[in-house]
Amino acid sequence: MTRKDFLKNACNACLSVTLTGTLISSCTPTQYISGKIQKDGITILKTDFVIHKGKNQGYNSFIIVRNETLLYPICVHRISDADYAAVWMRCTHQGTELQVSGDMLQCAAHGSEFNKRGIVTNGPAGSNLRSFPVKVNGNEIFIDLRKLS
Ligand code: FES
Repeated sequence: MTRKDFLKNACNACLSVTLTGTLISSCTPTQYISGKIQKDGITILKTDFVIHKGKNQGYNSFIIVRNETLLYPICVHRISDADYAAVWMRCTHQGTELQVSGDMLQCAAHGSEFNKRGIVTNGPAGSNLRSFPVKVNGNEIFIDLRKLS
């Protein structure tokens, strides 16, 4: 079996056991979006999290908002349909851009880890990530960036 066949079969296996859509996100690449920039923040859509694979539908557990107005990207985790957590992907130790791994944000520089709400769970970082208020209105998710300035 080739590597390509293995990956294809592994993803098909995930799809076959996915009834709730929770496992489908493990087989999908990271979703990057720029969002709609407004005066006080950025709006993204609930549908930005939706994943379609054939007849199955699921949700990305997170997406990354990256655009020219932000010095660092923002990671938005989908906690539930009405609850989202938005955190700045700047390590509070020495400012390295973080990487997302499942429900965690990790720093490649010195190993700090943060949960999806930005709470530091492993040092050397000594403070939590900057997080942003999120308001959900219908299909729209507004990330309030006024704290950033
Ligand atoms: S810069 Fe992130 S742990 Fe040091």
